Amino acid sequence: MRNTLIAIAAFITIAIVIQFNNSQTIDDKVETLLAEMTLEEKAGQLNQYSGYEIITGDIDESKISQRNLLVKKGLVGSVLNVLGTKDVEKAQRYAVEETRLGIPLIFAFDVIHGYRTIFPIPLAESASWDLEAIENAARIAAIEASAAGQNWTFAPMVDISQDPRWGRVMEGAGEDSYLGSQIAKARVRGFQGDDLSQFNTIAATAKHFAAYGEVIAGRDYNNVDISRRKLWETHLSPFKAALDEGVRSFMNAFNEFEGVPSSANTYLITDVLRGQWGFDGVLVSDWDSFGAMVTSGVAADDAEAAEMSLEAGSDIDMESDVFVNFLPQLVRDGRVDEAQIDEAVRRVLRLKYDLGLFDNPYKYIDAEREKNLILAPEHRAAARDMASKSIILLKNDNQLLPLDKTIKNIAVIGPLGDNQYHMNGFWRGKGQAEDVVTLLEGIKAKVSANTNVSYAEGSGLESLDSDKLSKAIELAKKSDVVILAVGEDADKTGESSSRTNIELYPAQQQLVKAIHQTGTPVVMVLMNGRPLAIEWSAENIPAVLNGWFLGSEAGNALADVLFGDYNPSAKLTMTVPRKTGQIPIYYNAKRVSRPMGDARYTSKFIDSPNSPLYPFGYGLSYTEFSYSPIKLSTDSINFTETLSATVTVTNTGKRLGEEVVQLYIQDLVGSVVRPVKELKGFEKIALEAGQSQEVSFTISTDDLAFYTRDMSFKAEAGKFKLFIGSSSEDLQGVNFTLTAD
Ligand code: BGC
Repeated sequence: MRNTLIAIAAFITIAIVIQFNNSQTIDDKVETLLAEMTLEEKAGQLNQYSGYEIITGDIDESKISQRNLLVKKGLVGSVLNVLGTKDVEKAQRYAVEETRLGIPLIFAFDVIHGYRTIFPIPLAESASWDLEAIENAARIAAIEASAAGQNWTFAPMVDISQDPRWGRVMEGAGEDSYLGSQIAKARVRGFQGDDLSQFNTIAATAKHFAAYGEVIAGRDYNNVDISRRKLWETHLSPFKAALDEGVRSFMNAFNEFEGVPSSANTYLITDVLRGQWGFDGVLVSDWDSFGAMVTSGVAADDAEAAEMSLEAGSDIDMESDVFVNFLPQLVRDGRVDEAQIDEAVRRVLRLKYDLGLFDNPYKYIDAEREKNLILAPEHRAAARDMASKSIILLKNDNQLLPLDKTIKNIAVIGPLGDNQYHMNGFWRGKGQAEDVVTLLEGIKAKVSANTNVSYAEGSGLESLDSDKLSKAIELAKKSDVVILAVGEDADKTGESSSRTNIELYPAQQQLVKAIHQTGTPVVMVLMNGRPLAIEWSAENIPAVLNGWFLGSEAGNALADVLFGDYNPSAKLTMTVPRKTGQIPIYYNAKRVSRPMGDARYTSKFIDSPNSPLYPFGYGLSYTEFSYSPIKLSTDSINFTETLSATVTVTNTGKRLGEEVVQLYIQDLVGSVVRPVKELKGFEKIALEAGQSQEVSFTISTDDLAFYTRDMSFKAEAGKFKLFIGSSSEDLQGVNFTLTAD
């Protein structure tokens, strides 16, 4: 919140009633309303304030009552963080009943992975590769949020990142743009449904536009310094996918691109988003990102920040007050064209119409609905299903897992073994710790009546305690198996939580080693918001589950997997490095001039292999799958033809399992350096023991197109390699040719 004086124009608040006739289109109605608005009221529609509940920036508490006054004066168009039908109704009545024009407010909130019923963090959900389940999770989040009076979520975050030091990787869909685009679409569909005016759908936001996942060294709010090529090759396609799916808003990013902050970046906004892509929805700033241009020294003062942001094509000012304070005067001074303000206001009013708020501003407010829908049993059931689908089996020596439900003595050890709070992860909406089923509770509910399940904390998340450690060692010694729950502090993941070291905290590493030394078999359950470099554990601990922060049903879902009621099917969507120093490390790296080899002068580290600990697309199952050789319909196509690639996948193990069959392509010679492989398709299938299924992918020139030397997006004739398999490293490949004629 900036410390500038609010310039409130003195106008008389006599309510006026605007008459619409039924034959008017929404655009006509918007024009009628716009014609009645003063400059101050227009700037007000572009002004967004935060309520007090959950904030991600500085806020001056004493301003809250002042803010209510501004709402009553028609100087606020939307709010965030005002939650629950009671508070929403209060604020909406101010806007509708006490302002001159009675324009309703939009209520926004960061509904990232659930409102009150908390689903796994988005990165975990992405590991399911299950688009239907991901869409359903967003649908349920929208149902609960709208039942609590919300109309708009600041999600999905579609930023691609190849840097797990950056805490915000937990909010995204991993490192790959193709998969990220599919997931962006699924989430947009889930939040927005088919009809935005329904009481149970909310507008979605594709954020943060653009390239925020490239912050230097993974340090949040840092600058970004990448080429236009990298922007287009890696970052823009998930935004375009969200747009194609009808996403109603975009959010600026905190970072600059080519030296210009995203919020005022005319290349990103005017040329690409509004121009080339024709986006005519609402573009909201990130928290104070307009005002922050003064801090980064690109705007001389707040007035200039307002001028630059509006001119580039941004519409709504979240929390920096620069629009409401300066736009009217900037128009009077001839620095800003009122027509440009009108354009932004039109977009905001249109969104309000489309949300149904002009037909009934109280449409989303129904206390009974709120009571019945929040934490509904079917929502919890879906959260459990999504959570089990998000758990990745990283290692399972000698089939230690699944465990038998009749084991005599089970020890649950670790600072996260019986913890409710951290399971909700970061960006936990209105999720409450008390709603969470812990790992210990989930296990107790799962095992036989004769099984003893005991718990010892062992260590703090970051602090060692010799007393706790000895108790844990004692418990491990007298148990048949240890389930060791270690990982991150949820509040040290997400926004503003960058790490220089993504290994286990030393206290926990010591705990892991001490428990391992007891000789009792250990199953490690990682609870994390980013890939963790667990090299020692991967070598020494026989079974490892990547359990993420799984939300309200964490413990039940983990128990489902640990005891075999759900056969793990998730696969990594971010590469797991051996060491932090390998970052950035990602599967679709470009070819290099001196690939790694035994010779000295080749591209490699001298103190670590180049390869990751676990590659993109990797994840085990309790069963096994075999792949037949790939059959191509033809080994040569021209630009108008397609080819199909088919494999038969067989479940060769003893139980039902799901497999994510992955298709990658490599362009063997291009006009610019091309990646070693790129994901181009996938299919998740379920097979009974012994069952086989054919999986076919159709490849057209669209799948072979890329940004060529002159940056045009097209395929080039030549040789390609097509790979199919169960991870980015476990693949078979065949060649085909794209011919020019
Ligand atoms: C974050 C956004 C979020 C906003 C509102 C910012 O700090 O970067 O992703 O939507 O706060 O909470």
